[in-house]
Amino acid sequence: MIIPVKTRDGGYDIIMERGALARVGELIGESGAGRLSLIVTDDGVPTQYAETVAAACRANGRAEILTLPQGEENKTIQSLTMILGKLVKLCATRKDRVIAVGGGVVGDMTGLAAALYMRGIDWINIPTTVLSQVDSSVGGKTAIDFEGVKNVVGAFYPPKMVIIDHDTLATLPKRQVANGLAEALKMSLTSDEKLFELFENEDPFTHLDEICERAIRIKKAVVEEDERESGLRRVLNFGHTIGHGIELACGGELLHGECVAIGMVALCADRIRPRLLAVLDKLGLPHEAACDPDEVLALCAHDKKAEGTAIMTVLCGWPGTFEFYLMDTEKLRRRILTVVKK
Ligand SMILES: NC(=O)c1ccc[n+]([C@@H]2O[C@H](COP(=O)([O-])OP(=O)(O)OC[C@H]3O[C@@H](n4cnc5c(N)ncnc54)[C@H](O)[C@@H]3O)[C@@H](O)[C@H]2O)c1
Repeated sequence: MIIPVKTRDGGYDIIMERGALARVGELIGESGAGRLSLIVTDDGVPTQYAETVAAACRANGRAEILTLPQGEENKTIQSLTMILGKLVKLCATRKDRVIAVGGGVVGDMTGLAAALYMRGIDWINIPTTVLSQVDSSVGGKTAIDFEGVKNVVGAFYPPKMVIIDHDTLATLPKRQVANGLAEALKMSLTSDEKLFELFENEDPFTHLDEICERAIRIKKAVVEEDERESGLRRVLNFGHTIGHGIELACGGELLHGECVAIGMVALCADRIRPRLLAVLDKLGLPHEAACDPDEVLALCAHDKKAEGTAIMTVLCGWPGTFEFYLMDTEKLRRRILTVVKK
C-alpha cells in the first residue's frame, strides 16, 4: 500500500508492506552507479535490518553502515556529528543519500543530518518501532535534543520516501509496542472514533497493520493542512502537555507513550474516562504516575505550549472529537492531581 503525503515542496510516498525490507532495492529504485548510501542505525536495532538495506544498495552503488549508540540520551549533537563526520570522511556529494533504519531517535537524527549536509541531501526513512511507524514516519520533523531540552534543535525536512515493514516489529519488546500504540490511541481519541472502537473491541497487538495505517492517515490529514505547526497540528499534542511534564519529572522511568497515556487520562472527559482506562489496561499502559505534581506543573508551564499564565491544552470530550482550550494553571494543577501522586 502506498500513502502519498503532500508537502509545500512536493511530497513523498509512505510504502507500507510486510516483507518490504526484502525488496528494498526495488522500492528505492536505481541508486545510480557509484552513488553512496549511508545507512544509519543504532545498536539496539537488530543488525540484519541495516545489513539487508546495505546489500540492496550495493547492487549498483556504494553503501556504508553507521551504528550509533541507542536511546534518547544519545539523541545528541555528538551523534549528529558522527553522522556528518562519516559523510565528510566518505566524501559524500550532494547526489548521495542517507537512510535511517531504526526507531524515532535514529530517524530524527538522520533526517537532521540530511537537512544540514551540503545544505540538504536526500534521505529515506525506514522506521522499525511502532512509535516511529505511526508517528515520526509522517510530518517531516527532524531534531536532536540539546542542553537538556528535547527536540530543540531541528528542521522541517521531509524524507524522499518512507518504507514501513511491520515484520520488523517482530523483534520489538512488547513494552515498546504498547508505547507506540499509545500515540495511535491518542489519534483515535481526537480524530477517529472507529479506530478507538477497534482498540476497545479487538486485540490491538494483532491489528498493528490496520492501526498503523489509520494513524498515518490521521496524521497525514493534519500535517498536510498545517505543515509548520501553526494551528491544527497542535491536536497531535493531546496528552503531551501533562505527559511531557511527567516524562521529565519521573526522570526517564516511564517511556514517552506511557506518559502520553497518563496525560490523556487527565485531559479527557469524565464520560469517556472508564472506556479509556479499560483500553490502557488492555495495552499494559499506566493510568497514573508517582512523582511530584508541582514539579509536573512547573515543567508544563515551561513547555512550548505555555501562553502567559494559561496553557494551551487539547481536550477530548468524545472519541473522534477535540477542542483547544487555554487552561489556567490552577485548573491544570487540579487535572494533574488526578493522575500524579507522590
Ligand atoms: N519526527 C517526529 O515527528 C517524531 C514523532 C514522534 C516521536 N519522535 C521522536 O521519536 C523518538 C522515540 O522513538 P522510538 O520510540 O522509536 O524510540 P527509539 O528510537 O529510542 O527506539 C526504542 C528502542 O527500540 C530499539 N529498536 C528499534 N527498532 C527495533 C526493532 N525492530 N526490534 C528491536 N528493537 C528495536 C532501539 O534500539 C531503541 O532501543 C523520540 O526521540 C521522539 O522525539 C519524532
